[in-house]
Amino acid sequence: MSKAQLIEMAKHNIAHAKQGTIEQADQVMQVPADHYFRKDRWEQEVDRVFKRLPLMLAMSCEMPNPGDYKSLEAAGMPVIINRNADGEIQAFVNMCSHRGAVIQPPGKGNTKKFICPYHAWSYNQKGELVGILSKDEFGDIDKSCYGLTPLPVAERAGLIWVILNPKSTLDIDTFLSGYDGLLAHFGFENWHHFDQRTLRGPNWKIAYDGYLDLYHLPVLHKNTFGPDFPNQTLYYEWGPHQRVTSPDRSMIELENKPESDWPTAPMMNGVWTIFPHVSIASFDNGGRGVMISQLFPGETPEESWTVQNYVLENAPSEEQKAMAKEQFEFLKFVVQEEDYATGLKQQKALRTGAKDHVLFGRNEGGGQKFHGWVKNILATEDDKLNDLFAQKKQAAAE
Ligand code: FES
Ligand SMILES: [Fe+2]
Repeated sequence: MSKAQLIEMAKHNIAHAKQGTIEQADQVMQVPADHYFRKDRWEQEVDRVFKRLPLMLAMSCEMPNPGDYKSLEAAGMPVIINRNADGEIQAFVNMCSHRGAVIQPPGKGNTKKFICPYHAWSYNQKGELVGILSKDEFGDIDKSCYGLTPLPVAERAGLIWVILNPKSTLDIDTFLSGYDGLLAHFGFENWHHFDQRTLRGPNWKIAYDGYLDLYHLPVLHKNTFGPDFPNQTLYYEWGPHQRVTSPDRSMIELENKPESDWPTAPMMNGVWTIFPHVSIASFDNGGRGVMISQLFPGETPEESWTVQNYVLENAPSEEQKAMAKEQFEFLKFVVQEEDYATGLKQQKALRTGAKDHVLFGRNEGGGQKFHGWVKNILATEDDKLNDLFAQKKQAAAE
């Protein structure tokens, strides 16, 4: 599971921690300000990024048992993800073949059959149409042609990716670029889904910029957790996916042990982002835990929704539950009152048109790569997407 790559990153981190340095991008980059609010640009992003690329829509630990399902709406598409009797994950458009009603309301549960609320047509765990009300009176149809519409899906590293386009030919593993091999070191399939909430935020790219940005921590978060962090950032990339961390002097003590004994957890610290919409940040309060944030565009360029999930490595004791709850509340405050409150005002200011571009510094290489990937994906036709991700490194200045 690519532990060698974790050790290489740890050694790279230690070298920078000793010298107090980072790796700088080649140049300061400009991003047009209207990329954050222009409606046609935003619609292209929804259509060509969110509706074409795999999205991480569920965690395996949310639906560990045969018959478990999760129903949700992502970028306007109603989706059912379910684990069938063989334990395999499947995904479908949550729409009835009779006249298109949405079958399962948002939420999670366990069922052998999905029954449409309109005229009670029913579908089994494999999405096959198995029941037609008043079948003889309805008339003859070939049931095998009227199952639920399947969506491409993959379960990797305890996380579940779905492509919202049923006709997509994009290979999910090519898109993941080996990143799932690194994420597998968390072992998420055996973790515990503790709690979940949804927050309203600004434009999805304003929000995502923040997840890639440690430069702001001691400033914007000066009244919460920021003073404990340096503003220096190291970025590691696998295709469009980036791990974001700081040179960490506490890693230096690892050098006292043989590399084969270096523990995995400290080598997994920082923020693991999954392009285009997920951030995984580690915490240690109430036991080892992560906040997995799933970001979705809202109804307009100036709105996004973030599903925050708090996931714990071990089943918590009562005392740990209280600590985890407190940690999760704290993270709500930080994201809502500091990050997103700033982002909402930032986009209002950008909209004035007083500046025609914003800047990403040589210390903000992660944001530079993110905007480069968005640009390249928007310019790539459907049949060339596999090639784009197979090349792995695509970042380019705007
Ligand atoms: S629309 Fe689903 S049964 Fe009629
Ligand atoms: Fe922040």
